[in-house]
Amino acid sequence: MSGIPARTRRWSSFVVIGVSTIAIAGAIMGGKQHPSTRPEPQLDRGKAIYSDYCARCHGGDGNGVAGRNDLRNRPIWKQPADDVITVLAFGVAGSEAAGAIRASMPPIPYDDGDLAAVATYTIQQFGDRTVRITPEHVRNAKEHHRAKVRERLLR
Ligand code: HEC
Repeated sequence: MSGIPARTRRWSSFVVIGVSTIAIAGAIMGGKQHPSTRPEPQLDRGKAIYSDYCARCHGGDGNGVAGRNDLRNRPIWKQPADDVITVLAFGVAGSEAAGAIRASMPPIPYDDGDLAAVATYTIQQFGDRTVRITPEHVRNAKEHHRAKVRERLLR
């Protein structure tokens, strides 16, 4: 009847079944890849740096140490990421608050990639907002800050 030999017809239906199995499996696995369960190496790195380094002064939950340096509910987390990057990169000078002398914060002893990771993590954690900070962003924000300081001091 049809011009296609039986062998070829059988063979082509195997191909059809094979291709649709792969397509269905792909759809199922793709569907499982929910955004919140996708691995996020940058956030994991930021979290590790936070607990290795920042937590000693700001507490594991950002709730401070001995009543000092609480990081929660600070306006800075809603400000442009450059403000956070500048604090981490250059530190904070000691200041007087409510009669108590606050210690200062040292500049971060990590490279731009690690700074980007911990800034991304803390802005998400404390500012409840998703940003993706790259090492290039950190480099530019630092250079911008240096230029502003030069302009202010060398005028
Ligand atoms: C040696 C102690 C110390 C370490 C380590 C440290 N900080 Fe700080 N940090 C301070 C002090 C002191 C201040 C200034 C007082 C304050 O704002 O509570 C400060 C201020 C800040 C501020 C500014 C808050 C604002 O409202 O302007 C941010 C943001 C911050 N720290 C984040 C971090 C992060 C993230 C890390 C880790 C990468 C870190 N700090 C590591 C002591 C530290």
